[in-house]
Amino acid sequence: NEHEYIMSLILAIETSCDETAAAIIKDGHIIRSNVVASQIDIHRAYGGVFPEIASRQHVFDIVPVIQAAIHEAGSSWDDLDALAVTRGPGLAGSLLVGANTAKAIAWGRGLPIVAVNHLEGHLYSNWLDEGDKIVPSAITRPSPPELDAAGEAFPLLVLIVSGGHTELIVMTGHGEYRRLGATLDDAAGEAFDKVARLIGLDYPGGPAIQAAAEGGNPLAFAFPRGLTNYAIQPEHRYNFSFSGLKTAVLRQVRELGEGPLPVADLAASFQAAVVDVLISKTAHAAQLLNVKRICVCGGVAANKALRESVAARLPVPASIPPFFLCTDNASMIGAAAHYRLSTGGPSALDFDVEPNLALEMRE
Ligand code: KG4
Ligand code: ZN
Repeated sequence: NEHEYIMSLILAIETSCDETAAAIIKDGHIIRSNVVASQIDIHRAYGGVFPEIASRQHVFDIVPVIQAAIHEAGSSWDDLDALAVTRGPGLAGSLLVGANTAKAIAWGRGLPIVAVNHLEGHLYSNWLDEGDKIVPSAITRPSPPELDAAGEAFPLLVLIVSGGHTELIVMTGHGEYRRLGATLDDAAGEAFDKVARLIGLDYPGGPAIQAAAEGGNPLAFAFPRGLTNYAIQPEHRYNFSFSGLKTAVLRQVRELGEGPLPVADLAASFQAAVVDVLISKTAHAAQLLNVKRICVCGGVAANKALRESVAARLPVPASIPPFFLCTDNASMIGAAAHYRLSTGGPSALDFDVEPNLALEMRE
């Protein structure tokens, strides 16, 4: 029954990688609370996410994070109408902690549970209202429910740019997706992380490169823009490739030889190349497909240079969620679950986590 769930208060849980997160979401778009316990400081020593340590830390953090989310929302357990949790893609051991905790709560309290695709969560980060206590996004946008009501949301072009994924997707309605293209090798966030290591910066590479690039010249090095010659390779117009860019930075570093590296110029030039590719392909797709709006989401959408280009260089109205909703969080999982409940109903309690889950295509 579609309407049974419309006014629901959802407790959402996200543990797919290295953040333990819980949120309380009302009506699919109002953030009552959003709690994230990041493990970044723990993993930094290893130069990346250490899977066993990640799942153990989720076990330590999950209950206090959920309790904080309920407390900060001013809610009680009795107010909850449904559970939402990420089932994949992600690290198996990490996913299991969130999924099992959510199942236990759902079973214990007799509540419906929705198993959410993490990528669908990133898409739905665009459907969240920040409310008044939260920093506004770089770009003013009408509230997503307003767009829906006015029939102005779809077709919508979505660029997902995270540590594990770089994809262009057309959304024709809630739960209806068509993938235009994806990365053939590294994801954009992965490229940031690998290039950061190459030029001696810390994990995670995205924020480190952004900070280093502040004082650098983006034109210092002419790094390649992979697969952007649409006349020569039209079949790859919606695909991405960042491995050539990574190799070009490596070659440049070797060529510079001994002595201190021009880290700021390398970071700025690399960042400019990634932003150029992302914006060029998104603009190209928006024009060819005549979409009404563009949404950019995922961890790399937190990047300042990308946000500036989205505001300045895209041909149709575009939105990017505020910073705190770009990187992994549970609010986006709650928003996705709300729409999933109205289009497909709840999940069976015996669902499994799926580390390699892809976004289900439906039109
Ligand atoms: O969405 P996310 O938190 O996790 C995944 O689902 O992968 O994305 C994490 C990725 C990392 O690769 C990180 O380096 C990148 O997002 N990232 C950034 C920035 N903040 C995070 N990349 C560029 N600029 C940033 N400011
Ligand atoms: Zn993510």
